[in-house]
Amino acid sequence: MSDHLTIRRPDDWHLHLRDGAMLAAVLPETARHFARAIVMPNLVPPVVTGAEAAAYRDRIRAALPAGMVFEPLMTLYLTEGTDPEDVAAAHASGLIKAVKLYPAGATTNSASGVTDFNKIAAVLERMAEIGLPLCTHGEVTDADVDIFDREAVFIDRVLDPLRRAHPGLKVVMEHITTAQAAEYVRSVDTGLGATITTHHLVINRNHILVGGIKPHYYCLPVAKREEHRLALVAAATSGDPRFFLGTDSAPHIDALKEHACGCAGCFTATNTMSILAEVFEAESALDRLEGFTSLNGPAFYGMPANEARLTLIKGPPFHYPSKIDSADGPVTVFDPGFPLHWQVDD
Ligand code: NCD
Ligand code: ZN
Repeated sequence: MSDHLTIRRPDDWHLHLRDGAMLAAVLPETARHFARAIVMPNLVPPVVTGAEAAAYRDRIRAALPAGMVFEPLMTLYLTEGTDPEDVAAAHASGLIKAVKLYPAGATTNSASGVTDFNKIAAVLERMAEIGLPLCTHGEVTDADVDIFDREAVFIDRVLDPLRRAHPGLKVVMEHITTAQAAEYVRSVDTGLGATITTHHLVINRNHILVGGIKPHYYCLPVAKREEHRLALVAAATSGDPRFFLGTDSAPHIDALKEHACGCAGCFTATNTMSILAEVFEAESALDRLEGFTSLNGPAFYGMPANEARLTLIKGPPFHYPSKIDSADGPVTVFDPGFPLHWQVDD
């Protein structure tokens, strides 16, 4: 096996860039390796209208350091009050590439999400007509559903009925964490894809809870049993074009992670490509890394793959910084718990 791997430049199909000081700190971490990213709209307040998405895109562009090239792919946060015509106009102008569905209360900054799915039927109908994908945070929020079951229950109670009610709608199951989700994606031939994060390919729930609680491994959906992690690794490394990278890199300052009520989110933008190379190499699937990070996502979204290339070089173990600084405070970089040999040539 060669010690060089050159692939088309990757994209991140699920990313949290935040705003203000945090945006300034984390944007270069993504732009260093990634050409484009689907930017999540869960700011406070959320990015709901086309006008808000345009303003957020301008702030992202303004925060990009000189000399870096990066294209933010904007999304709208779906609420029960979302206007189908505003969505259609934002899509027609090329501004937005997806709409994000958060069940109300499912995760960080999701209070404005959807409770009554009947109220979003007209928007979903319009999205199906114009070919605009719906990205779903696939967890139910019912208090009586165990947190480890919330994704599987979402498929049965929400996602499958929603897809049947809107057969033409393109849907991305975001950050899948279970064998059931991977199986559901495989059961559908067209119009359904799934993103898989870096960290869910690496950790299971023991990593969070055994030997003391590890807040930097806590994210939503929460990591599940080892058998589910193995199912995700199998899906990501299979070459199946329905699976593609969405890091869900979700920075929170350490003070809010290392807290009695710690925030959900793993920050993986910095070292994702090195970790993924390690994961794919362990599966003898390095030849499929490019599909997962650089080809399958654009194909699903109907965009060309990037022309620029990225090279990874294998050498002795090396170390990324354990934290990056922001003006709000330090942010811990995800620790995969194994040495990294593949360094991005940047
Ligand atoms: C995300 C965040 O912090 O915005 N957190 C997370 O654990 N993934 C929200 C999300 O994608 O669920
Ligand atoms: Zn996310």
